[in-house]
Amino acid sequence: MKSDTIHSLTPLHFGKSFEGDTLAHFYFQNDKKTAALHGETPTEIQDLAKNGTFTGAAKSVFFVRGSYIDQINLIIAGLGTKKDFTPEKARLTGAMVANRVSLEKVKSLGINIDGLLKGSSKAMAESILPAFLEGFYLSQYTFDKYKSQKNGNQKLESIHLVSEDRRNEAWLKKIIHDSLITIDCIFLTRDFSNEPSNHGTPEFYANEISKLCKTYGLKCKVMGEAEARKEKMELFLCVGAGSDRESKVVIMEYTPKTGAKSANHVSLVGKGVTFDSGGISLKPGMRMEDMKHDMTGSATMVGATLMAARLGSKNKITTILVFAENMPSGKATQPGNIIKARNGKTVEIINTDAEGRLVLGDALDLAHDYEPDVIVDTATLTGACSVALGKLASALFTNDDKVSKALMKSTEATEEALWQLPLWDEYFEDIKSNYADMMNSANDSNGGTIRGAIFLKQFIKPGMKWAHIDLANRAYDQGYLPYNPRKGSSGVYVRTFAHFAMNY
Ligand code: BES
Ligand code: ZN
Ligand code: ZN
Repeated sequence: MKSDTIHSLTPLHFGKSFEGDTLAHFYFQNDKKTAALHGETPTEIQDLAKNGTFTGAAKSVFFVRGSYIDQINLIIAGLGTKKDFTPEKARLTGAMVANRVSLEKVKSLGINIDGLLKGSSKAMAESILPAFLEGFYLSQYTFDKYKSQKNGNQKLESIHLVSEDRRNEAWLKKIIHDSLITIDCIFLTRDFSNEPSNHGTPEFYANEISKLCKTYGLKCKVMGEAEARKEKMELFLCVGAGSDRESKVVIMEYTPKTGAKSANHVSLVGKGVTFDSGGISLKPGMRMEDMKHDMTGSATMVGATLMAARLGSKNKITTILVFAENMPSGKATQPGNIIKARNGKTVEIINTDAEGRLVLGDALDLAHDYEPDVIVDTATLTGACSVALGKLASALFTNDDKVSKALMKSTEATEEALWQLPLWDEYFEDIKSNYADMMNSANDSNGGTIRGAIFLKQFIKPGMKWAHIDLANRAYDQGYLPYNPRKGSSGVYVRTFAHFAMNY
């Protein structure tokens, strides 16, 4: 099936049978069919089952090479027990099968989905199959645009979903279509986040996003420093003051074609610090290269916005992305400087490395102008986020229980966990300033993630519903999940924010 994707994804076909070099079958544990492995199954596989090597246990993947020229290779993958099976298990299975496929240099793969969907209701199948495809494709992502030798020459050329059930064609077509859009948008987020900051400048992202908006029918507005100054966004501007590269504000506007009365308006906001050196409060050199990923909040919101738009969201979406480079220089903002924000509040900058909250403060204030029903921002805001939560869930803060419930519902659908932390005003005491309305940091490393959120809260007007997600702990190097690259951007939460934007 041809799809209009940004990335060249391995073509995906479907039908009753296929001609190719390798066919994958799926089996549940403690299932009669697995034990018997029906008559047509080659003896090699029957033997694997008989001698107990293959039981259908989760995460088990076997490759049996066809012994004659005219015999195809077989992959058998275990799904674990049916009662413990979830879409996330399907996602993991997809990744493990894909990794085996690339190891064995398979060129054309058939995937027998009847085994994978055995005993699933239609609704269940509608989450199992996309999850499997996501795991499969996401695990094969590479960022090799700057490598002289690409590893693409032995790539898988085609995938064929095989099913006995012919009635499902239209249904399958829709699932494939939507899954490829999801994967494409996550790849886009990963590409943006992985881009080194000598290429991935604020101007680069503004141009790329403008082009994407044109392709997918969204409105796009870009503001440079002069326009941001007219908007009184001094808090945003002070972050890029030390950089030779111009800061940019990008606003994407998606309006649904069918304007249903019940539709809501969601505003998404992302931190886009293209490189965070710390500024005058310079970071130590160790792993400073990771700070090219400090625009992952923006990359995530771009991916989520395009995903929701391409999937035909009925809700309106306004996305605000604030790009700036945090550098030390003779023009850089210095500790002790006091800056007036767009909302009129004054901030004493005691640490120029707490810059994400500065760009976001003005972006959040700007988002109010569009009169959305809810504002959700995300950022690689604090290292303390990893201290608080490790790597399994990012931190969620919100001033509204319904927004919390809606976001949690989205994470249930996408299986990308969030964990809510308190947003109590008492924490504001720590960032009261002697000279201004607030400081951008406190001289205390404990509870740093919460203080970041409390700072942002100062830019939310009474009555506005708002949530903040600090994804610093999950933005990159998430290879413990086989569908994520070992090094580099994960693209996590693109699906969650898209789901939220579409369903709020
Ligand atoms: N971009 C960093 C946060 C970060 C750290 C993201 C590690 C990913 C990995 C942020 O701008 C920052 O430097 N935050 C400071 C805040 C502090 C100065 C209050 C931090 O976390 O140390
Ligand atoms: Zn910083
Ligand atoms: Zn930062």
